[in-house]
Amino acid sequence: MAGFPTYRARRMRRTGRLREMVRETSIDPADFVAPLFVTYKDGRHPVEAMPGVEQLSLQAVAEEAGRLQSLGVGAVLLFGIPESKDAQGSGAYAADGIVQKAVRTIKETTDDLVVITDVCLCEYTDHGHCGLLTAEGEVDNDPTLQLLARSAVSHAEAGADIVAPSDMMDGRVGAIRAALDASGFAHTPIMSYAVKYASAYYGPFREAADSAPQFGDRKAYQMDPANVAEGLREAWLDIEEGADIVMVKPAVPYLDVISRVKRETGHPVAAYHVSGEYSMLKAAAERGWIDEERVLLETMLSIRRAGADLIITYYAGQLATLLGDRK
Ligand code: PBG
Ligand code: ZN
Repeated sequence: MAGFPTYRARRMRRTGRLREMVRETSIDPADFVAPLFVTYKDGRHPVEAMPGVEQLSLQAVAEEAGRLQSLGVGAVLLFGIPESKDAQGSGAYAADGIVQKAVRTIKETTDDLVVITDVCLCEYTDHGHCGLLTAEGEVDNDPTLQLLARSAVSHAEAGADIVAPSDMMDGRVGAIRAALDASGFAHTPIMSYAVKYASAYYGPFREAADSAPQFGDRKAYQMDPANVAEGLREAWLDIEEGADIVMVKPAVPYLDVISRVKRETGHPVAAYHVSGEYSMLKAAAERGWIDEERVLLETMLSIRRAGADLIITYYAGQLATLLGDRK
């Protein structure tokens, strides 16, 4: 290897054009996934803890999906806020549930947008947990699987392009794969929340999706932030059960995990830049403490550099606008 003065690292940094020629990582709106919250209520309802994010009516969600498509954003990820909740989360797998309706509406009004649905029970259960409860109040893994599978099939029937289970029950990817295949949806991919940590960064989301657990926390099913090897086991398990894309969540505090999952599995990897990560940037930007655009681009670049193929982010629309303006 040639050293100084033969090699001068600064030579390729002197102009924007030169830097561009040797840039190793890029960000592209086609790789963004925009989470959207759908409600039965009319209009748009701002989420206080997430400036710029709103709960959307069916009509508003179709408008938003159209806007994102025209900006070049690759996909949307739908979360539903049902009219009523019960112990079994029946709104999650109702044929005319809020997400199922939203998928149909978006599919009628867009033609080039990938529609992904979040598959979980927590927005639909009155206790706010991601699965059924035992008499002792523990989340009961195995009986939950068939409800998740029913939810996924109902989303596929509505026209979902990809289903994304976020519950962290053991064996759910296999159960969903089998149910989709048996219902004629062998071509519907699964993006699994494979490596999902029990994270404090989900705080603002629980206001947006009205999905806070009514007692306890999610530590009995989501992962311990201290663990990486376990994250790799989770990723491999989901891949063996048929996951097409594996997700790591949150993103920036877990860049090491994204990097290892990508390198060691070689599978498509999605990273979820979650609500708390979003709201922290917004809060600092609102106070004028950071340059939002520059910090945002740098943050997204870090997630891509770690190895994520797809980035799920509440900034998707704003980023696509920003990248479009720069062209
Ligand atoms: C629910 C779910 C959560 C998120 C996505 N799906 C919250 C949780 O597990 O408590 C978090 C997303 C975010 O914080 O942006 N299964
Ligand atoms: Zn859940």
